[in-house]
Amino acid sequence: MNKNSPILQVEDLRVSFGTRRGTLEAVDGVNLCLDRGEILGLVGESGCGKSVTAQAIMRLIGNSSGEYVAGRILMDGDDLMLKSEREMSRLRGKRMSMIFQDPMSSLNPVYTVGWQIAEVPIIHDNASRGEAHARAVEMLGMVGIPSPEDRVRRYPHEFSGGMRQRTVIGMSLSCKPDLLIADEPTTALDVTIQAQIIDLLLDLRRNLGTAIILITHDLGVVAEMCDRVAIMYSGYIVEQAPVHELFDNPRHPYTKGLLDSLPRAGRRGRLNAIKGRPPDPGNLPEGCRFAPRCPHAFEKCSKFPTIECVGGDHHVACWLEKKSE
Ligand SMILES: Nc1ncnc2c1ncn2[C@@H]1O[C@H](COP(=O)(O)OP(=O)(O)OP(=O)(O)O)[C@@H](O)[C@H]1O
Ligand SMILES: [Mg+2]
Repeated sequence: MNKNSPILQVEDLRVSFGTRRGTLEAVDGVNLCLDRGEILGLVGESGCGKSVTAQAIMRLIGNSSGEYVAGRILMDGDDLMLKSEREMSRLRGKRMSMIFQDPMSSLNPVYTVGWQIAEVPIIHDNASRGEAHARAVEMLGMVGIPSPEDRVRRYPHEFSGGMRQRTVIGMSLSCKPDLLIADEPTTALDVTIQAQIIDLLLDLRRNLGTAIILITHDLGVVAEMCDRVAIMYSGYIVEQAPVHELFDNPRHPYTKGLLDSLPRAGRRGRLNAIKGRPPDPGNLPEGCRFAPRCPHAFEKCSKFPTIECVGGDHHVACWLEKKSE
């Protein structure tokens, strides 16, 4: 293992689903690279393919009929696409872990919360029951659940929505993964708990060097937590840059639109939401997929713009930014 090599490289990831209406291209040529300990924000409108990208990286998609996944997913240089399901389940929960968008789907109603957290160290670290129980109590305390010694014996239905979400986060951290994918981890929570979870994730990175892909709609959370940001639109990445660069110097018209739609202190009047809707993934236009909504669209946009470096670590997929062709 080379400490300087990226923890994760995703190359030309494509995911499609066979549906009754035909083929739906959910992810269409995504490239991502994540260094050890880095936090990458993955941002975009509902339905653009963020969760599908995350599930494909965890190899949770592509195992059933009607699900097609192509591309390369390298973790520590090791191609996950070539791993058996048995090898993958060993990796999941030990080296890579995911916080799902819907926390209830990760909790089993018939087992106590403590048992569900303890299960991870028992399976992966051969921990004894006593050690695992102590780890579960510690984890619940770490995610800010009051009286963890008592709560550990309770069932999921005895927890509030916010407590369940924090439990799920505790479960995904209990194995101290090298890579964590957090799919909207704070969206359902109120502001104070949201702040605690953000601190928790930042501590995790600081203390354990965990690399995180943070999927969120909230550009405020991105500004607070992320080192780099990838903006996704209709199945592909339209812009990627270090976080300050993206906020100070957005280049893609879609990114500019997202930033314009943010409330800012001192600004009056209505927010400028981007007009129109993303295209139907079952019927994608040729060329730039943002063109139908773009105020700057011109003839060239009828051809698909590949993503290119525009200087430093800033990449954009837009004909306005291309120097050649
Ligand atoms: N199992 C599936 N079968 C068929 N289509 C699917 C499946 N999972 C996702 N999709 C479709 O793939 C597209 C991308 O979905 P995805 O869940 O990745 O969006 P998202 O960016 O996470 O959105 P949100 O912000 O609302 O969570 C959507 O059109 C969705 O309907
Ligand atoms: Mg999602």
